[in-house]
Amino acid sequence: MKILIVDDSRFNLEYAKNILIENNIDCHILLANSGKEALETITSTEIDIVILDIVMPEMNGIEVLTKIRKNKKTHAIPVIMFTSLTDKQALQESFDCGATDFINKPIEPIEFISRIKAAIRIRKYEIYLKETLSTIKNQNQELLDLNKQLQETQYHLVQKEKLAAIGQLAAGVAHEINNPIGYVSSNTETLSKYIRKIKAAIDQYSELLHCLNDTDIQSEEVKNRIKDLYDLQSKLHLDFILSDIDSLIDDSFEGIEKVTKIVQSLRNFARQDLETDFNYYDFNDLIEETLVLIKNEAKYIIDIEKKLDELPLISCNRTQIGQVLLNIMMNAVQAIKSQNRKEQGLIKLITFVSENYVVCEIIDDGPGIDKAVIDKIFNPFFTTKEVGSGTGLGLSISYDLIVNKHSGALLVNSEMNKRTTFTIKLPIKTIS
Ligand SMILES: Nc1ncnc2c1ncn2[C@@H]1O[C@H](COP(=O)(O)OP(=O)(O)OP(=O)(O)O)[C@@H](O)[C@H]1O
Ligand SMILES: [Mg+2]
Repeated sequence: MKILIVDDSRFNLEYAKNILIENNIDCHILLANSGKEALETITSTEIDIVILDIVMPEMNGIEVLTKIRKNKKTHAIPVIMFTSLTDKQALQESFDCGATDFINKPIEPIEFISRIKAAIRIRKYEIYLKETLSTIKNQNQELLDLNKQLQETQYHLVQKEKLAAIGQLAAGVAHEINNPIGYVSSNTETLSKYIRKIKAAIDQYSELLHCLNDTDIQSEEVKNRIKDLYDLQSKLHLDFILSDIDSLIDDSFEGIEKVTKIVQSLRNFARQDLETDFNYYDFNDLIEETLVLIKNEAKYIIDIEKKLDELPLISCNRTQIGQVLLNIMMNAVQAIKSQNRKEQGLIKLITFVSENYVVCEIIDDGPGIDKAVIDKIFNPFFTTKEVGSGTGLGLSISYDLIVNKHSGALLVNSEMNKRTTFTIKLPIKTIS
């Protein structure tokens, strides 16, 4: 505890100091002979209590007190005024300026010591309170940090769990489809070869039939057989069947190719890439793959318009970027669907190169995002979807864990009831 005694009288200073020493007051005593010296000591040393004479030449006690109270560093120090009975007016003024207490002059030892002891007690409580407050503040900060950590861990866990579940499902389904589609594809191939052969044979039979029909050497039985065959041909619509067969087979091949693509996209998406699995990909291919996955969701309700410029390959984690595209496109589809509108929706996908970035814009003509919440959409767990239908993790994962880690950017711009644009920017690195 440091006590500073300020008085222009050397006698008073020494007298006050001696009383404190004689009464074993546990403190370090500093003395100042003038207001100026007092202020210098107070600003350079941490003082706990000031005993301040009111009447001093040059700078009186009230001026010193005013300066102490004005200074942010010293404003809370308890200041006890030293005063003689004739200073009543000045005493009042001191209290108006923030004095803590007063001690009468000439010094009466018992009163002096009692006042100082009370001031020390109060000061100790103040220090104790200050320390406790700072401990509570620190503990509070620790709790906040812990809470944040907990939330982050929780959402990483949820995300891992979700991805693992979807991944397993998708991989399983894709595997199941892959097998049958393999033999359907190879059987159709064989079937088409057989049909070509059968058609060739039928052509020959038909020619023979025409030939026989045109000759005169026909027994009654041959005539009847020829007629029966013509009747059968027309009954079976053989001409139509033969002309339609090719387009049916072409359609089947097209269907098989589509299913194969879906399966391939699902398998690519479900593949458990390591976070460090970076490779060079054409961003447009990733868009096409994602489109295969969302096409069904958008069918009959939303048109998809593409304007994809030729792009350089970019180094990225295919699964993760696929996840970003899927979430943003699904958000757009869900936003348009939420409007239950009559007219067709529209999602535009645009890619181009700008400076050293591949840029992709995903624009939907859905409801837009309210200005009041647009700053929150990248926060974990922020969702406006019904409980159970959205976790609110899609964009936060896309932003924090994926695009940022690719040294890219994910931006949003939205105009209510007009459009929402999400822009993904990924850096182009030269292949070494
Ligand atoms: N294209 C959009 N149009 C309107 N609102 C959008 C659009 N995209 C995102 N939002 C808003 O941002 C919120 C957060 O999206 P985010 O993808 O992070 O989570 P979610 O889609 O709600 O749930 P999850 O993706 O985890 O299933 C959405 O709930 C929605 O309010
Ligand atoms: Mg989402």
